[in-house]
Amino acid sequence: FRIAVLASGTGSNLQAVIDAIAAGRVPARLVGVFSDRPKAPALDRARDAGIPALAVRPRDFATRLAFDEHLFSQVDAVHPDLIVCAGYMRLVSEFAVTARLGRIVNIHPSLLPAFKGLHTHQQALDAGVEEHGASVHFVSPELDGGPVIAQARVPVLRGDDAAGLAGRVLAREHPLLVATLRLLAQRRLSTGSDMQVRLDGQP
Ligand code: GRF
Repeated sequence: FRIAVLASGTGSNLQAVIDAIAAGRVPARLVGVFSDRPKAPALDRARDAGIPALAVRPRDFATRLAFDEHLFSQVDAVHPDLIVCAGYMRLVSEFAVTARLGRIVNIHPSLLPAFKGLHTHQQALDAGVEEHGASVHFVSPELDGGPVIAQARVPVLRGDDAAGLAGRVLAREHPLLVATLRLLAQRRLSTGSDMQVRLDGQP
């Protein structure tokens, strides 16, 4: 089962996946890591793990569409069964998403459908919610809008600031993403045209 990862930053989610595959917890192979930022530490993590790593710079392209066309031609070249957006900070163009419905997932640091977009931890604090967390979802053309596959919940504690809350959520993102990729690699998760997520096989 071939997984390609898109990442823009630190790559702690990518690292969790690298480690889980190496430990035999996810029956898959990472066939490429792609970033919109040449200096993303995620690319170094890929290289350290012997995984092909490629940066595609948005400023090298006249339009967002041209950037995505080039990026996804590079992604297609490694023939992934699944594309994982893990800390990828760009909106994927509609043409790229609709051609891959059910084959792109994203991990988002909120309990979707709450708090889509950026600065999710501050949004949660401002909203005064008592519970927050992370979601892995199939990517749809709507930002953070696709069907949710799995979620992890954390309490919001008195005195939390955005950084503290982000750290508590991030720690839960890693096992959440690994568990979800394991199910996807086992081909036990599917989504239909109704965009509902189904878990097949033995629980
Ligand atoms: C994580 O909170 C992830 O949910 C968000 O980007 C943050 C950094 O992820 N999309 P990583 O450390 O680069 O994997």
